[in-house]
Amino acid sequence: MAGWLRIAAPSSLLQVGLLLLLLKARSSGKPFKKCAGDEPCVSSRPPVVIIPGDLGNQLEAKLDKPSVVHYICYKKTDSYFTLWLNLELLVPVAIDCWVDNIRLVYNSTTHTTSFPPGVDVRVPGNFGQTSPLEYLDPSRDSVGMYFFIIVQTLVDKGYTRDDDVRGAPYDWRKAPNENKQYFLDLQNMIEDMAKKAGGPVVLIAHSMGNLYTLYFLNQQPQAWKDKYIKSFIAIGPPWAGVAKTLRVVISGDNDRIPVISPLKMRSQQRTAVSTSWLFPYVHTWPKDQVLVQTPTANYTVLDYQQLYSDLDFKDGWLMRQDTESLIFDLTPPGVEVHCLYGTGINTSESFVYSDKFPNVEPKVVYGDGDGTVNLRSAIQCGRWIGKQKQPVTLKELPGCEHVTMLLNVTTVNYILSVLDSP
Ligand SMILES: *[C@@H]1O[C@H](CO)[C@@H](O)[C@H](O)[C@H]1NC(C)=O
Ligand SMILES: *[C@@H]1O[C@H](CO)[C@@H](O)[C@H](O)[C@H]1NC(C)=O
Ligand SMILES: *[C@@H]1O[C@H](CO)[C@@H](O)[C@H](O)[C@H]1NC(C)=O
Ligand SMILES: *[C@@H]1O[C@H](CO)[C@@H](O)[C@H](O)[C@H]1NC(C)=O
Repeated sequence: MAGWLRIAAPSSLLQVGLLLLLLKARSSGKPFKKCAGDEPCVSSRPPVVIIPGDLGNQLEAKLDKPSVVHYICYKKTDSYFTLWLNLELLVPVAIDCWVDNIRLVYNSTTHTTSFPPGVDVRVPGNFGQTSPLEYLDPSRDSVGMYFFIIVQTLVDKGYTRDDDVRGAPYDWRKAPNENKQYFLDLQNMIEDMAKKAGGPVVLIAHSMGNLYTLYFLNQQPQAWKDKYIKSFIAIGPPWAGVAKTLRVVISGDNDRIPVISPLKMRSQQRTAVSTSWLFPYVHTWPKDQVLVQTPTANYTVLDYQQLYSDLDFKDGWLMRQDTESLIFDLTPPGVEVHCLYGTGINTSESFVYSDKFPNVEPKVVYGDGDGTVNLRSAIQCGRWIGKQKQPVTLKELPGCEHVTMLLNVTTVNYILSVLDSP
């Protein structure tokens, strides 16, 4: 979820610099490989797979379009170019081309999405590479730093990129129902890594990646999980959805890029099925809490059909119905869970619109959370305690923001302690 641009704040850069120093200081000494005589070296730490969140890995596109929305837009390209994250495309006029390329087209008969005519979108590189999720911007501008600190720390400890620490990026515009091949690839990769290491794998997910991981684990037999998964580290997990997604669908969210109007972002954001998948869930939100208020209506978690209808976005209601059941039951994952969540940051809780609804910025009412994920959603992993054999640990990260928590030394050290545990 949103918040990338905030990472660029100078204070954060300073913080990252300090963090690197701290990590360097504590990384020396401990041997990573245990080697006995002529035996091959065996890793003493488990392999790691990283599952990123919404907007959390690079996407690239190739064009051969029948038409374009503006004469400056490319109609055809010889090769793939970066669609996300490429700040050069997120400027006035160019953004119209970008929106027309990154949107999805929903078919209400088949309940599936497709790319716009003549647009092909893919994750760059081979499946398993960490580079598409270490930096969102392939120019490795610190603006888009994402999993780099965590991966680099593991490498400093003796891990090897794309070997025993791998990434599992995907098309985050879609929900799991439209990413079937992804889960097969993920399963095969985990099995390969576990066989090579001679032991099970640790999954580290962020944000929506946690819902993807839960869905994946819920599909696997218990015997498979016992054999292949050591633990699941869930960072900033929106188990029960996120209130902020309502604003994204209603009036758009420009993620604080001031030159871009939120309404412009909205047309594309609405087509991303995963946004409707992340609407707040009725099992956790109070049924009488007004999430969206306008002069003529109040919408609670029970009023989505009406909301989509009033937005004249009926496909949105179909998208919600297509996806709501995927992890609705919050079935325990059946593996050891470490659930890390930020608190103490103003987090959108509800939205008050003027009579210009929905084409206007709302007044925001804040509650507790990590700035993106509401606290009540993040702590739903607590319901698994005692409901599965494997331990479930909740770890509060006071003052940690949704994205910068991945750069925080507390988070990084927590991950290392899980990797070092027997
Ligand atoms: C939706 O899919 C159906 C079945 O494949 C197809 O007949 C129909 O033309 C599609 N609708 C649109 C708007 O593309
Ligand atoms: C919406 O709820 C508020 C209180 O939360 C109330 O004052 C207002 O009258 C309600 N509006 C409508 C249209 O029901
Ligand atoms: C959090 O939001 C409240 C209003 O809901 C505001 O008064 C306060 O200054 C905000 N705090 C921060 C740190 O932004
Ligand atoms: C890092 O996390 C710790 C623990 O939650 C918190 O006290 C600290 O403020 C965080 N640092 C930053 C820079 O966010």
